[in-house]
Amino acid sequence: MQKVKVDLERAKFFDELSDSWDAKGPSPEPEVVLTFLRKLNIDSEKTVLDVGTGTGLLILHIFSFHPARVIAMDLSSRMLSILRGKHSSRFGARLEILQGDVHLLNLQDASVDIAVCNGVYPHFQDKPLALSQLHRVLKKGGLLAINHFAGRQFINSIHGSSSHDLIRRDLLDPVMILSETIAGCGFHVKEWRDDATEYYMIAEKI
Ligand SMILES: C[S@@+](CC[C@H](N)C(=O)[O-])C[C@H]1O[C@@H](n2cnc3c(N)ncnc32)[C@H](O)[C@@H]1O
Repeated sequence: MQKVKVDLERAKFFDELSDSWDAKGPSPEPEVVLTFLRKLNIDSEKTVLDVGTGTGLLILHIFSFHPARVIAMDLSSRMLSILRGKHSSRFGARLEILQGDVHLLNLQDASVDIAVCNGVYPHFQDKPLALSQLHRVLKKGGLLAINHFAGRQFINSIHGSSSHDLIRRDLLDPVMILSETIAGCGFHVKEWRDDATEYYMIAEKI
């Protein structure tokens, strides 16, 4: 059996970006974020996993739907320490901060209702493995969202011009190709968009 290793190279890359991340911008307008999150049916019964949460761009927006619990998960300890400083005193035990790699997801089977991967999917080094982990932790009927608040060409131009070799290869596929990958991993694709301003795919665990 192949041994999966934590993605230390990307962890270091994002650790080094963490201090400047919030100033990088442009951030999406709150209404754009909320319009997207409304599609995920977050309510007071739900546990939401924010995969690759970074410094917590989505956290306040997710909490505006009053979920039972939010798990803010990221590879980068420095991204998470900024997130902790901004959000942990406000939400107490309802906000769980988890450092780790999605490929080795340290969560119980069927423990999550909604998993959001905002701005992170192209960075997964083994996408079928990452998707199988997300499938495992989601409840049946739970939702997986993969999204960027920007168009695919824009994201690929940013990653493609990175000074870091690894990041230059972290490119987004057209959503139709993503849909085939997702469908092959036990999900039913419900909704998608792939245009100049937004990229997302929402799928249900079957
Ligand atoms: C481009 S940033 C996006 C951060 C945040 N979602 C946002 O929109 O501001 C990508 C984040 O995903 C994290 N990440 C990359 N690969 C990961 C992995 N395999 N598992 C968990 N997090 C990962 C990085 O550390 C980084 O914080």
